[in-house]
Amino acid sequence: MYDNNINSGLFGVGNKIYSYSINHSTSRDKYCLACQHTSMLKLGCRPRNFTLTVVIILAISNMLLTFLLLQSETCTSNNKDDKLIKNINNDKFVTEKIDGVQKDDDYNDNPSTINLIDDDIDDEKVDNININVNLGKWDNQRIIKMFDSVLIGSKFTELSKNSKICLATQSSIEKLHSLVQVAHHWTSSISVALYVAGDEEYNAVNKYLIYLRYCYKPIRERINFSLAIPHNKIPINELNIINNYSSIKNLNCSLPEATLVNMLNKISTKHTSWKSKNSYPQNHMRNLARKNCQSDYLFLTDVDIVPSIGFAESIDLFLHNIPDNKCDKCAFVVPTYELDKRVKFPINKTELVRLAKKGLARPFHWKVFIHNQYATNFSRWIMDVVPGSKGYTNLINGKTYVCHNVTNFEFLYEPFYVAKDTAPPHDERFVGYGYTRNTQVYEMYVAGYQFQILSPVFTVHWGLQTRKGRLPWREKQNILNRKKFDQFKREIFTKYERDVSKPLRKL
Ligand SMILES: *[C@@H]1O[C@H](CO)[C@@H](O)[C@H](O)[C@H]1NC(C)=O
Ligand SMILES: *[C@@H]1O[C@H](CO)[C@@H](O)[C@H](O)[C@H]1NC(C)=O
Ligand SMILES: *[C@@H]1O[C@H](CO)[C@@H](O)[C@H](O)[C@H]1NC(C)=O
Ligand SMILES: *[C@@H]1O[C@H](CO)[C@@H](O)[C@H](O)[C@H]1NC(C)=O
Ligand SMILES: *[C@@H]1O[C@H](CO)[C@@H](O)[C@H](O)[C@H]1NC(C)=O
Ligand SMILES: *[C@@H]1O[C@H](CO)[C@@H](O)[C@H](O)[C@H]1NC(C)=O
Repeated sequence: MYDNNINSGLFGVGNKIYSYSINHSTSRDKYCLACQHTSMLKLGCRPRNFTLTVVIILAISNMLLTFLLLQSETCTSNNKDDKLIKNINNDKFVTEKIDGVQKDDDYNDNPSTINLIDDDIDDEKVDNININVNLGKWDNQRIIKMFDSVLIGSKFTELSKNSKICLATQSSIEKLHSLVQVAHHWTSSISVALYVAGDEEYNAVNKYLIYLRYCYKPIRERINFSLAIPHNKIPINELNIINNYSSIKNLNCSLPEATLVNMLNKISTKHTSWKSKNSYPQNHMRNLARKNCQSDYLFLTDVDIVPSIGFAESIDLFLHNIPDNKCDKCAFVVPTYELDKRVKFPINKTELVRLAKKGLARPFHWKVFIHNQYATNFSRWIMDVVPGSKGYTNLINGKTYVCHNVTNFEFLYEPFYVAKDTAPPHDERFVGYGYTRNTQVYEMYVAGYQFQILSPVFTVHWGLQTRKGRLPWREKQNILNRKKFDQFKREIFTKYERDVSKPLRKL
């Protein structure tokens, strides 16, 4: 196998650049909301009048939330949090802590380079992005213009026909290097929605995509790219068409991240400062990626979420065994771990759990925002690595199976899952940070979806995340979206004719 810790090492160069792209760290009021909403759902009152109940509950929750927002300090030392953290620390997967740097086989010697380069580099064909920026398709709010299939993988159609599953993912230019590892692990079709703002980015993305497609066969073959451009940053100058490889050949195929950072450094501070003031339209991007998948099922991720090795093949077999129309409301959750940047990508679940025991991996956002994946129940998920346990045979054979179901759904649960694209869309009123992925998951839950946890497949996010101060721009976006949430919630409860006061499970 190849060494492939491509995400590590070089970050920090573009701090201001990175700050606005999709990220999942916590925010205190997100946490407060979780406390609030779980207790809210437990309210036992059942007045007859549905609308009245909704109004009362929303009013109370609004008051409390406002109160909690003002009191964010008290919220961090919340009892529930303390209790959860204690439980987690007792859990098997964080028993040993690593002090300082330690050298053994788990560690990657040279994390910033990769050995994924193909021998058969295609010298003949140079594909530039091929669109007319004066055309394109607008979103409902007319803030984003979209272009389907601006670059198409040579095997995308074939893979879409032969496999039940497609990976749908989205990115701004700053995280695009993550695709290298993703495309090497994921052997089925991939739909990537790319956010591009203004001339400088348009040209940089074009050049970087040519580089990626030149260096890496899986990217050349498997990916269908689509573009989204904000209304106030439509490129006005023509694309600098690259029609020979001479400039690309000087770029080092072992260093996708450094190559990207070099290109980004050439982008003006005027533009990066514009970008930091404008929200990344996460949900538009997710819908765009979803709609460009052609398979029955799709796995929607963010671009820096790396699938385990053999994922696509294994889950394809699993999905083939589900009778048609049997699983229209199934959401197959794939657990996500965050991984120490210094270690090698775990080759299988056993390895992942072993790294977790050493403190080199843990469930994604465990320290930052535990509700993100709490309902997945990791202590249960790791049980099948024990010889003789239920599911152990599947684990050994790399056979995907449902390990258990989610029984304690909570608001703000935010798993990555495999489902049919008939799942509710991502609501595009939420732009920027906060209430984007979790509102869609919440709607699925209200709509009666069953969340089922898969094993032994998993996904990885590079880097152990820690709580840090909330950036002001995030807070602002979060508050704006928070205001839209009440209306969203009222709408989905009406849409699915659910009574807010009743436990949701009993449909
Ligand atoms: C390729 O482009 C370079 C400039 O980037 C130019 O000097 C060179 O002549 C071109 N080669 C061909 C074969 O067109
Ligand atoms: C690319 O980078 C790697 C790692 O830094 C280095 O070993 C290699 O010599 C470079 N290749 C070229 C062609 O510059
Ligand atoms: C890429 O996606 C578009 C939009 O769904 C689709 O029309 C096109 O056929 C796809 N490309 C291939 C090669 O299948
Ligand atoms: C996790 O699973 C265990 C064992 O089945 C169960 O006792 C526990 O309540 C579950 N926890 C959550 C949060 O679902
Ligand atoms: C997982 O990978 C390790 C290291 O390559 C190997 O020893 C082990 O047999 C594998 N386990 C399973 C269940 O495939
Ligand atoms: C999970 O839920 C589905 C649908 O309700 C059910 O058919 C299945 O048996 C459950 N699986 C487990 C492992 O509990």
